[in-house]
This record gives sequence, C-alpha cells and structure tokens, in this order.
Amino acid sequence: MSGITIALSKGRILDETLPLLAAAGVGPSEAPEDSRQLIVPTARPDVRLVIVRASDTPTYVQYGAADLGIAGKDVLYEHGGAGLYQPLDLRIAVCRMMVAAPEGFDYAHAVHQGARLRVATKYLRAAREHFAAKGVHVDLIKLYGSMELAPLAGLADAIVDLVSTGNTLRANRLRVVEEIMPVSGRLIVNQAALKTKRAALHPLIERFEAAVAAHA
Ligand code: ATP
Ligand code: PRP
Repeated sequence: MSGITIALSKGRILDETLPLLAAAGVGPSEAPEDSRQLIVPTARPDVRLVIVRASDTPTYVQYGAADLGIAGKDVLYEHGGAGLYQPLDLRIAVCRMMVAAPEGFDYAHAVHQGARLRVATKYLRAAREHFAAKGVHVDLIKLYGSMELAPLAGLADAIVDLVSTGNTLRANRLRVVEEIMPVSGRLIVNQAALKTKRAALHPLIERFEAAVAAHA
C-alpha cells in the first residue's frame, strides 16, 4: 500500500495518543472513539489510521500491515519486538508493571519459604521472566482482564498487572509487593518500511519526537 498506515491501540492509551497525532500533523479527521470505523483518514491524504486491540498493534506493524504504531511497553514486551524498530518513548500512558497480593498475604515469607505461588496475569512472559530471575517457583494462570479479582476469588495468591494511581488495588484490598518494570507508550516502526519508505517515514518520526519534546 502506498502512503503511510499508523496502527493505534484502542483503550486507555488512545486518549493520550490523540494530542500527539495532532501535534505531528496526522490527527484523525473524525474522533476514533465516536466511530465504529476501523480505518480512519487523517489531516494528511497520504496517512491513515487503523484502530486495533492494544495487544494486536505490534503484530500489525511487524507484518507491515501498518508502517508505524503506538503501543504500550507491556504489550511490546509480551510480543517480543520481532521486526520492529522502537525509536521513541512517547511518555504517554505511564504506569508500572507490578506484582500485587492481598493486604494480609505474607508475600515475602511465602517467597522466602520456596512456596509455589499461583500468579494470575495477562503478562505471561514478563511474569515468567521476573520470577525465574528470582528463582521463585510459580504456576502462572492466564487471564485477559480484571486480574484484581483473582486473589479475592481464590484463583491465585498474587497478580502481575499494571498500576498507575493504585486506586484499583486499594479498592480491592491488594497492595504492591514488587515492581517489574516501568511502562509507557512507544512509537514502533516496521523495520522493512523504515528502509523502503524512509523518505516519508523519517520526517514523520521527527515530528513525533518534536511533539514529545514539546509536551515534556
Ligand atoms: P486488550 O483489549 O488488548 O486486552 P487492554 O484491555 O489491556 O487491551 P487497556 O487496559 O485499555 O487495554 O490498555 C491499553 C494500554 O494502555 C496498555 O497496553 C498499557 O500500555 C496502557 N495502560 C493500561 N492501564 C493503564 C493505566 N492504569 N495507566 C496508564 N496506562 C495504562
Ligand atoms: C488497568 C490495569 C489496572 C488499572 C490500574 O486496567 O489492568 O486494573 O488499569 O490503574 P490504577 O492504578 O490507576 O487504578 P484498565 O482500567 O485499563 O482495564 P482492564 O482491566 O480492562 O485492562
């Protein structure tokens, strides 16, 4: 496809993406939240947006169905980053990936005792690597959302999830017991497109860089 396609993640990250797109001169010509349309034109006739599930964004860019994308580091870590160039931290959707457990659960003791923990998460790779590095045995339980429910319902001892204000943890009587990584939105680029469409992509990446610097 000629022109440039940018894959945007639905959900929380989308709201914070829109001002950056506008500043980079590629704002949507209609509000994506209000539309059922999945391909959205922009202020530039040669640039279009595709709106995908957050966890699908790296896949669209990896296979070149989109040239650029905006995705959270959480999602990129799980994807693995094959075929992607990650030139820019956009400093949006800032949060942290944490291990959390019920307020009354003695996590340090359980880990020290070499107990086998049951951990529920949608971030299987990050969780597996985190606990493997600590030498802690875990049974990972894959969930697709509402991780905070798992310890309350007796499904798991602990969860790995994203935390920003901490309100969701507090509302469910959970507390952070460890940090895994800081998370924010990243610009991603298809590695092949960066060569074949360099003349079009490079100035756009620079405009994103300038937009991030202006917001700092
Ligand atoms: P999917 O539909 O693929 O499962 P999702 O339900 O995880 O996506 P969101 O929860 O809206 O979608 O998250 C989209 C992105 O927003 C995440 O990948 C993450 O980078 C970011 N994000 C999620 N939660 C927060 C938060 N509490 N604070 C800041 N950013 C967040
Ligand atoms: C994310 C995350 C936590 C919450 C944390 O979920 O999974 O549940 O945000 O934010 P807080 O620390 O500010 O409370 P989100 O609301 O995006 O919904 P989801 O469970 O559908 O992913």
